[in-house]
Amino acid sequence: MDCIVIANQKGGVAKTTTAVNLAAGLALYEYRLHPRQPQRVLLIDMDPQGNAAAIVSHGIFGGGNGGGEETASELSIANLLADDNPPAVVDLRQQARIPTLLPQSNLDYIPVNRPALAAAAQRLVSAEAREYRLAECITQLEQLYRYVVIDTRPAYDLLLLNALTAAHVLIIPVEVSGLGMASLPDMNATLQRVQRRLNRNLRLLGILPSKCNLQRSEAQMVLEALQQEYGGLLFDPIRERAEVSVANTEGLDIFSYRPPRPQAEGKMAFTSPSAQEFARLVEEVLRRLGAGR
Ligand SMILES: Nc1ncnc2c1ncn2[C@@H]1O[C@H](COP(=O)(O)OP(=O)(O)O)[C@@H](O)[C@H]1O
Ligand SMILES: [Mg+2]
Repeated sequence: MDCIVIANQKGGVAKTTTAVNLAAGLALYEYRLHPRQPQRVLLIDMDPQGNAAAIVSHGIFGGGNGGGEETASELSIANLLADDNPPAVVDLRQQARIPTLLPQSNLDYIPVNRPALAAAAQRLVSAEAREYRLAECITQLEQLYRYVVIDTRPAYDLLLLNALTAAHVLIIPVEVSGLGMASLPDMNATLQRVQRRLNRNLRLLGILPSKCNLQRSEAQMVLEALQQEYGGLLFDPIRERAEVSVANTEGLDIFSYRPPRPQAEGKMAFTSPSAQEFARLVEEVLRRLGAGR
């Protein structure tokens, strides 16, 4: 199993968008590469806003139980993290509604209860093994999931530390702007602290330039600066396009919103440029994960 965390302490840099589309894309590629026995992907939302869980459950406006207060009586990620006797993680997972284009969804998620997750973050402060709660859950899933993708919130807190401690690799989405670049030293310092104290094996898989608008003169300069600093760690940029944010608002991943045409030998023809870019990201993530083994 590979556990991938998406993090950046800056908000609005496409963490959630990346987590959802990467999770859906990995699920899609499992079908493509192993059509008879696709393995499963799990999306874990560690942001009390619950946007990622909301998208993969019933859509943001669908009244689903992924990211709402509706789950008040049900168990959620908060119980896994902060209960004295936490439930088994396998009992909490739910099958995601997306990717809608697959014959059967092989993407699962853990429900989020917004107030409970925010409260759990507070309760963790005085808890035993407070940084390792999520890692303990993830080890229970080793045989059940091929990939786990964790979305995080833009804050330096125990939810972020749990996510970084549980993960094997980190992807940092960065907005292609001067301010976006300025957010990277903070995240790198956090990565180093975690590597030193909590998770020696955490590896930076790459930096993902997100919401990139090449029309802006600043963008080209920032991309070049990123290239100089990170070289081979840089992923190809994801461009800013309405279809990405519209898919989010409709509660869909980009592959369900702009489905590829199936072709011979399990190949897929993507007609949407954004779906193409996210598919390239998935392929590059698979390549880098393989190279690290
Ligand atoms: N490639 C993109 N093109 C256009 N809008 C995007 C793109 N990526 C993200 N967005 C939009 O930017 C906003 C912030 O993205 P989000 O994934 O929620 O960021 P974060 O989780 O880092 O706060 C959302 O409204 C989202 O729809
Ligand atoms: Mg988010």
